[in-house]
Amino acid sequence: MTFLAQMASFPVGSALVQSLILYTLYGIGLALYRIWFSPLSKFPGPKLAAATLWYEFYFDVIKRGRFAWEIKRLHEVYGPIVRINPFEIHIADPDFYDEIYTGNKRKRNLFEWSADQFAIPESMLSTVSHDLHRRRRAPIAPFFTQHSIRRFDPVIRSKLDILCSRLEEYMHSGQPVNMDSAYAALTTDIITEYCFGVSYGYLEQEGFNPEWLPTMLSASESSLLHKQIPWITTLIRSIPNAVALKLKPEIVNLFQFQAGVYATIKKIRAGELEPSPDNEHPTIFHSLFASDLPASDLTPGRLMGEGQTVVAAGTLTTAHYLKTTTYYILANPEVLRKLKAELEVAMPKVSTLPALRDLEDLPYLSAVVNEGFRTSHGVIARLTRVAPDEDLHFYQYVITAGTPVGMSSWLNHLDPTVFHDPDKFIPERWLEPDADRLKKYLVNFAKGTRMCLGKDLAKTEIVYTLALLFRKYEMELFKTDQSDVDIAHDFFNPSARLDSKGVRVIIKKSIV
Ligand code: HEM
Repeated sequence: MTFLAQMASFPVGSALVQSLILYTLYGIGLALYRIWFSPLSKFPGPKLAAATLWYEFYFDVIKRGRFAWEIKRLHEVYGPIVRINPFEIHIADPDFYDEIYTGNKRKRNLFEWSADQFAIPESMLSTVSHDLHRRRRAPIAPFFTQHSIRRFDPVIRSKLDILCSRLEEYMHSGQPVNMDSAYAALTTDIITEYCFGVSYGYLEQEGFNPEWLPTMLSASESSLLHKQIPWITTLIRSIPNAVALKLKPEIVNLFQFQAGVYATIKKIRAGELEPSPDNEHPTIFHSLFASDLPASDLTPGRLMGEGQTVVAAGTLTTAHYLKTTTYYILANPEVLRKLKAELEVAMPKVSTLPALRDLEDLPYLSAVVNEGFRTSHGVIARLTRVAPDEDLHFYQYVITAGTPVGMSSWLNHLDPTVFHDPDKFIPERWLEPDADRLKKYLVNFAKGTRMCLGKDLAKTEIVYTLALLFRKYEMELFKTDQSDVDIAHDFFNPSARLDSKGVRVIIKKSIV
């Protein structure tokens, strides 16, 4: 008697076997339907990816954030349009970007399946509907206009003063500085001050609180599993922390980050955390509570979601940009020389950081900033959009309304037909006569209705930091190479190889 026949001879075994057989048949039928009969079957791509989401799961969860590279490989095999999973299309064609990431007149939803990958369904970042996203973004957007950022300018300068005084300590001790940690501390202290009126104070901590960045990246990695199997997050939340930490430390890191953000917001609501009276700038959460927003906009889930979005988005991305660009400048002596030469003229007194507008007018610094945007990519994760009420046309293909379709910044930025020698850091490309044409293809902040809200804050931080540090210090890379900045894992937020010790520099000299 075979094993299956033996099982079937018991009533319980029989039910189990029958369920298994039915489930297997259902799975095979579903896979065949998806491959051959789904409306997406006309798009090129591997059959396995068309059949099941486990394909993406393997690359993102098992191989840890590697699906982006698989998508790149698929484009090399199948061409500029590829079906990457049972429901979704991916496009690699820089000229198509503006069709997907459009302005308000054309609606763009998120893809329901991936929208809530950060477990914050009520935040603007995760809001599926175009119209609801507009309503949720509206009360926060005024804090990120150029005018608002100008009022916040003195805080950014004061945080940079703290960074410089810490760098002087490293200079005197001769110890290398981990710039990954230093920049993460800088961006965190800036954004928490803006959100809550008090900063987390990481710039002052030993080693710039080196645990913070890995914790945030690990929380970010948890989004890959949550996207695929959301109930695991709920399950982990329900078991004791000590056990959960052993099972899934990255999900626990996410919970702890969420809890920290929410505790601070609750204190603000209860009037237990007032900004300093000499604060000239508004703070996001105090202003939201003082506004006449309806209660439905101030629910705990909504507040925690927006707090998490703004703190995480304001920290990791800008820190990643700064460490990557610092590396490229120091690794290219001619770039370093030209940048320093320009800054010496523009900043005769090192102690006086010029106005933002004056720094933005410096051609070489601006070229370096743009090349940093291109080579650090922003996020390399595909940003999936759904056009709910219009078909999109890509060459002979019709992408029917309602189909999730995405593109990835790094495939634009590394396209040799747009950017020559795309793997090299060449600020000069932004000084060539056709540079304005190139700007259209720079998509590190994405585009359209859901593009980065903190773009002007990020640019301000970046321009000030690069100008000040490269004018003031002679720095040298310490045991750091390209592999410490090359993105090796896509945890939505980019990560270098996991055993990287970060971009480390020795501060040789400070100019006073
Ligand atoms: C170089 C630095 C930065 C880069 C490259 C960057 C990039 C991006 C990208 C690509 C998105 C779109 C994400 C998506 O469609 O899912 C985004 C969204 C967002 N970013 Fe940034 N970001 C940066 C800095 C900042 C800063 C400093 C803040 C300040 C808080 C910020 C706040 C946000 C917010 C709130 C969103 C969500 C917008 C929405 O859903 O409507 N970002 N960012």
